[in-house]
Amino acid sequence: MSDVIIRSTGLWTPPHSISNAQLVESYNAYAARWNEEHAGEIERGEREAKRPSSVEFIEKASGIKSRYAIDPDGILDTSRLRPKVEPRPDDALCLMAEAGVVAVKDALDRVGLDGSDVDGVICSATSMQRTYPCIAIEIQDAIGATGFGFDMSVACSSATFALQQAVNAIRCGQANRIVVVTPEITTPQLNYTDRDSHFIFGDVAVAVILERADWGNPGWKILSTRLKTQYSNNIRSNQGFLNRCEEPARDEDEMLFVQNGRRVFKEVCPMVAEMILQHMSDCSLKPDDMKRLWLHQANSNMNRVIAQKVFGREYADGEAPTILDEFANTAGAGSVVCFHRHNDDFETGEKGLICSFGAGYSVGSIFVERIAA
Ligand code: COA
Repeated sequence: MSDVIIRSTGLWTPPHSISNAQLVESYNAYAARWNEEHAGEIERGEREAKRPSSVEFIEKASGIKSRYAIDPDGILDTSRLRPKVEPRPDDALCLMAEAGVVAVKDALDRVGLDGSDVDGVICSATSMQRTYPCIAIEIQDAIGATGFGFDMSVACSSATFALQQAVNAIRCGQANRIVVVTPEITTPQLNYTDRDSHFIFGDVAVAVILERADWGNPGWKILSTRLKTQYSNNIRSNQGFLNRCEEPARDEDEMLFVQNGRRVFKEVCPMVAEMILQHMSDCSLKPDDMKRLWLHQANSNMNRVIAQKVFGREYADGEAPTILDEFANTAGAGSVVCFHRHNDDFETGEKGLICSFGAGYSVGSIFVERIAA
């Protein structure tokens, strides 16, 4: 059984991003029009007027300032309020595979590797663009990898759950070098007419290359991984293959992302902090052994509560950085994008934690240590 290292990571972002001000302007124009159209019902008390969204609320409540998006124009167009995606022929790379391939190639290029050096591809994301063939197999083919590919999905913990599968497969000798790729095309899943959540998501793809530690390359040794789930309906999407068969048909809005944000905040913070501390103690690690926590990126206030519980003290921003200002919530990709962006300053022997949490509920916790060649 070989130990496993993270050899490299890579990133894809769409070329355009949307600021909070742009998103709020579009929502408020939509809400004003809606209120006009329903003025009579609102006056008679049959419907509630839509209240305006605000940049100040979004930044204070979430830490989000902007988000990358596959199609800002479609999202901001008040007569559309969703990204526009052109259908592609079956022999062209699908959108998720295209984004994933860029992230994978970025990760490979950074360490001078080629797709043919990879013998396993796991594509793990909140939603898959289609049912089959697997997006992972399409990516495997596009980069010229050997071995196997499969898709999996665990909402906001998609990347960490996949990392554990990759670690186990390498440990057991089923593969030598696996790419875990998380293309999160999340903006189509939002209801842009819902003031509570219209600002939450952004699009991104992130890739992680894992390989046998006994090959002696520099990287990040995986010290331990742990996963936990606990059923909750507080973050939900009802989108699925049975939708078109349902009788009576659902409203389209009912198939999009909904959450009870307050309950999520209250229930998930203690669950995550407890799990991290237990995992840490089981690995004979202490909070102060951690140079950095790369936490899931949904809400900066949640991360503050969790990091404070884990460190047991006030901490510096650099000890639990956020990328929410630039990326917003990128679902399963967030903690790994944060790791990718904030790990350059680690010296050999320094340790950190990659931790995701979200719908399910699901939590994934991975301790890593910087190692030299
Ligand atoms: N603009 C202005 N005001 C808004 C608003 C908006 N876009 N959205 C809501 N508000 C208002 C609410 O109406 C409410 O006002 P009221 O008390 O007068 O009715 C007030 O702001 C507080 O709303 P609330 O929804 O309770 O805000 P919050 O502080 O809980 O923040 C979240 C909302 C979603 C940012 C926060 O709960 C959160 O991030 N929770 C965790 C979510 C999470 O991690 N989810 C995982 C997803 S993968």
